Amino acid sequence: MAAEDRITTVRWTGDAATGCLRLIDQTRLPTEFVEVECRDVPTVWEAIRSLRVRGAPAIGIAAAYGAVLGARSGGVAGVDDIRRSLRDATQSLRTSRPTAINLFWALDRMDALAASTATGPEIDATALLDRLLAEARRIDDEDRAMCRAIGRHGAELVGPGQGILTHCNAGGLATADYGTALAVVFAAHEQGNPVRVFADETRPLLQGARLTAWELKRRGIPVTLICDSMAAQVMREGKVQMVVVGADRIAANGDTANKIGTYGVALLARAHGIPFYVAAPSSTFDLSIPDGSDIPIELRDPREVTHGFGRQTAPDGVDVYNPAFDVTPAGLIAGIITEKGVIRPVDTPTIRAVLDSP
Ligand code: MRU
Repeated sequence: MAAEDRITTVRWTGDAATGCLRLIDQTRLPTEFVEVECRDVPTVWEAIRSLRVRGAPAIGIAAAYGAVLGARSGGVAGVDDIRRSLRDATQSLRTSRPTAINLFWALDRMDALAASTATGPEIDATALLDRLLAEARRIDDEDRAMCRAIGRHGAELVGPGQGILTHCNAGGLATADYGTALAVVFAAHEQGNPVRVFADETRPLLQGARLTAWELKRRGIPVTLICDSMAAQVMREGKVQMVVVGADRIAANGDTANKIGTYGVALLARAHGIPFYVAAPSSTFDLSIPDGSDIPIELRDPREVTHGFGRQTAPDGVDVYNPAFDVTPAGLIAGIITEKGVIRPVDTPTIRAVLDSP
């Protein structure tokens, strides 16, 4: 990918004691490209909750940097103050959104780093803060590497010139910079494969229309935007040979939570004999839960459905149900593309074997 094509979704500028987190405000895309500056935990919390930063890996990275901001919030007088402030920060950030496991995974890493310094040789407050920033940067850098590996493995599954349907946005904007589902598209395109993408617009918040279509267009990859309800017809017309989506949390048996509507797309793909793939890094697996029934599903504000983007589109007082995610059963998934390779078949032993591989 050319350097000018890269998106830096989330970045830390400056040192641990005085620097800040900057993130692309995704609620303003595709018409405005602006960054939000975050200097405290409430600003990061609000950015995650309101989807200024969204997508499972990007949420985790933003929260890790947010934990650094929190750790220094009471000043850098002593190591114990930093540990206490960090604990308060990670507890708060854990409440920002419930479904994407990457959020909890990243915050666990930040808490574990602080805990490990408690038992090691004595260090001073500044050194602890530096180590916390280094851990957040590692989470960020590891995501970059994992997404590229996902792209390499996934591109091997794409036939020449295939039509690929995707749902929501699992691109650079949802990760450090390269995406998961879109990494497969980017890698195939970089190898000279003339792939074409069908992007579901993704009601109610239009991540497909606003973000996926924007990312693909700016990289010169052919993309056709469709309303969610058009996917069946597009499949029946033979325009799609593969579906690839991202994930917010994958249970031990492969049941996968992703943006609301994904389950329907998987059913449609099965009905049309089209392989349905999930692309996700190992940080998106939650092996502590046996299957998808235990995945917490975020319920969001009814106004996202009745007043999308500033215009009322439903009668006053109508009942609304607005789950932000659904769970696709493992049996509908042809394979899960991870940085360690493709998990196929999607079942508990194969997931464990691939994730445990070096
Ligand atoms: O509500 P969002 O926009 O955070 O939902 C995002 C998704 O569902 C993505 O597909 C998922 O997080 C994977 S991102 C690589």
